[in-house]
Amino acid sequence: MTADKTSLVIGAGSSIATALIGQILQESDSRVIAISRGDKPESLAQAGGGLHWLQSDYSEASIAELAEQVSQLAPQLHRLFICNGILHDGDYQPEKRLEDLQLDTVQQVMRVNALLPMLWLKALKPGLRRSPGCQVTVFSARVGSIGDNGKGGWYAYRASKAALNMLLKNAAIEFNRLRHQLQFLLFHPGTTDTALSRPFQDAVPEDKLFSPEFVASRLLGLLDELPPEPAIQFLDWDGKTVPW
Ligand SMILES: NC(=O)c1ccc[n+]([C@@H]2O[C@H](COP(=O)([O-])OP(=O)(O)OC[C@H]3O[C@@H](n4cnc5c(N)ncnc54)[C@H](OP(=O)(O)O)[C@@H]3O)[C@@H](O)[C@H]2O)c1
Repeated sequence: MTADKTSLVIGAGSSIATALIGQILQESDSRVIAISRGDKPESLAQAGGGLHWLQSDYSEASIAELAEQVSQLAPQLHRLFICNGILHDGDYQPEKRLEDLQLDTVQQVMRVNALLPMLWLKALKPGLRRSPGCQVTVFSARVGSIGDNGKGGWYAYRASKAALNMLLKNAAIEFNRLRHQLQFLLFHPGTTDTALSRPFQDAVPEDKLFSPEFVASRLLGLLDELPPEPAIQFLDWDGKTVPW
């Protein structure tokens, strides 16, 4: 695997991530290392040698081990995407009111949505330091915007994405201070037809429900045009700034 145009996609089982991987692999000389809890999806079965699929249980030990494998496969990264996010899971549904708050589920949503991306950044830091200009995209959500919160509800998901935004801003400042010239993007994909949004799609007008392929191509287009400054931006699928 050559190093110059290698993208790393974490949370690669996400429908948006899978579409993203398919589109990246169509670009010439592009390669993808994908990390997921699960197997390579059927839609990527024909992807060929440009795709290296690794599995992780996202424990700290597994993250450290896989970060080492990534640095062997690709000493420099062109782009990094961290796609993980949960909104509902089994019995857990997003809270409508304070009475719905459960410590265990809030902790789990925080762990997956806010803390896991940071554990990956921590483990990948040596490789990122060798990758000037690398673009780091982490999937956030407009509902994680404190300024935009007019409706309330979804306590854990909103709070976890707001925490993610703060944590990534910290990381961007740290990398910038070390003069590593990375570009950070907190990305809001818009309501996209995936397992995550499926229970909540009834209220979404048809033209506001995007396909994973549409969102993936908007994201890649955005990254192609992303200016080097500011070092971190919170943008939606249309390239518009989302208030912090
Ligand atoms: N769909 C929307 O309308 C929408 C709107 C705003 C923001 N987003 C954000 O977009 C991102 C991609 O989501 P999607 O819509 O493509 O949803 P999806 O298809 O349901 O993908 C779920 C993602 O979360 C990861 N994940 C799920 N449970 C996990 C767990 N217990 N531990 C660790 N990782 C877990 C999966 O990783 P594995 O590959 O390891 O399974 C996968 O990356 C998420 O961050 C989501 O918050 C989506």
